[in-house]
Amino acid sequence: MTTTDSTPAPQGLQEHFDATIARDQRIEPRDWMPDGYRKTLVRQIAQHAHSEIIGMQPEGEWITRAPSLRRKAILFAKVQDEAGHGLYLYSAAETLGVDRADLTEKLIEGRQKYSSIFNYPTLSFADVGVIGWFVDGAAICNQVPLCRSSYGPYARAMVRICKEESFHQRQGYELLLTMMRGTDAQREMVQDAVDRWWWPSLMMFGPPDDASPNSAQSMAWKIKRHSNDELRRRFVDMTVPQAEKLGVTLPDPDLRWNEESGHHDFGTPDWDELMRVIKGDGPLNTERIERRRAAHDEGAWVREAATAHAAKRNKRVQEGTAA
Ligand SMILES: [Fe+2]
Ligand SMILES: [Fe+2]
Repeated sequence: MTTTDSTPAPQGLQEHFDATIARDQRIEPRDWMPDGYRKTLVRQIAQHAHSEIIGMQPEGEWITRAPSLRRKAILFAKVQDEAGHGLYLYSAAETLGVDRADLTEKLIEGRQKYSSIFNYPTLSFADVGVIGWFVDGAAICNQVPLCRSSYGPYARAMVRICKEESFHQRQGYELLLTMMRGTDAQREMVQDAVDRWWWPSLMMFGPPDDASPNSAQSMAWKIKRHSNDELRRRFVDMTVPQAEKLGVTLPDPDLRWNEESGHHDFGTPDWDELMRVIKGDGPLNTERIERRRAAHDEGAWVREAATAHAAKRNKRVQEGTAA
C-alpha cells in the first residue's frame, strides 16, 4: 500500500501497518500510523463531531414548541443524544493527539467543516419527523459501515452511536405516520417537509465519486468502506418503500425501480448548491456558527469552574486528604 507521506516510516512499521489493514484488524492509538492516515482521521472525526453538535440546533429550536409532553420528551432525548455523540467523537479524535478545545476553535473560526444538511431551516414540526427519517436514516447508512472502520476508537464509538441513530430514525418516522393519520393540513405539512429535505439529504453523502478525490485513499485505508455514490443509492433503496408506506411522494420525477440493476434510478442532486452550502453560503451557515460561538462563550464559566475544581481535587489527593 502506498501512502501520501513525504517522510519515510521507521523500518518495518509501514509494513506492520499495511499488514494490519490487510488482515482487517484495528489500528489503535498506540500503534504507528502514517501521517496521512492520522490527518485524514482527525479531519473526518472532527467533522463528524462538529456535525453532531451543530445538528442539535435545527431540531433543538422545536423543543419549546413541541405539540405535547410526549413529543417534547422524545425530542429532548434525541437532541441530548446528539450532544453525547459529539462528545464520544471528540474523545475519539483526542486519541489521535489533538485537543478538543482546539477543534472547537477551528469550528467556530470556520476552519473545519460540519455536515451541509444542518444549514437548512426547520420551518414546521413536520421537519422534526422528516429529519429523523431522512437525516438520521442517511446517518445510519453512512455510519453502520464505520463500525468496521480500521481505526479502533472511531469504530467503537460508532457502535453505540448507531444504536441511538436507529431510535432517532424510528421516532421521526413514527411522528410522520401519526401526522399522516391526522388532518389534510398535517398531511400537507409532511409533504412540504419531504419536498424541502429530500435533495439536501441526498447531498449529505457528499459529492459524486468522480469528484471526491480523497475517497479512494480512505477506502484503501479502510477508514471508509463504501463510496459516496454507493451509500447514496443504498439510502434511496431503503427510503422509497418507506415513502410508499407513509403515503408521501419523493420529489424526483426520475425516480423509478430498475429491474436490471436491482436498484432505483434517481435524479442528480444540484451539486452547485452543495458546493455553495459547503463553502459557507447555505441558508443558515452564519446563524449556526454564531449560535455555536455564543454557546461556547456562555459556557466559559462552566469550563473554568470545572478546571478549578479538578485542580483543587488533585491538590487534595496529592496532600493525601481526599475522601
Ligand atoms: Fe448523531
Ligand atoms: Fe441522530
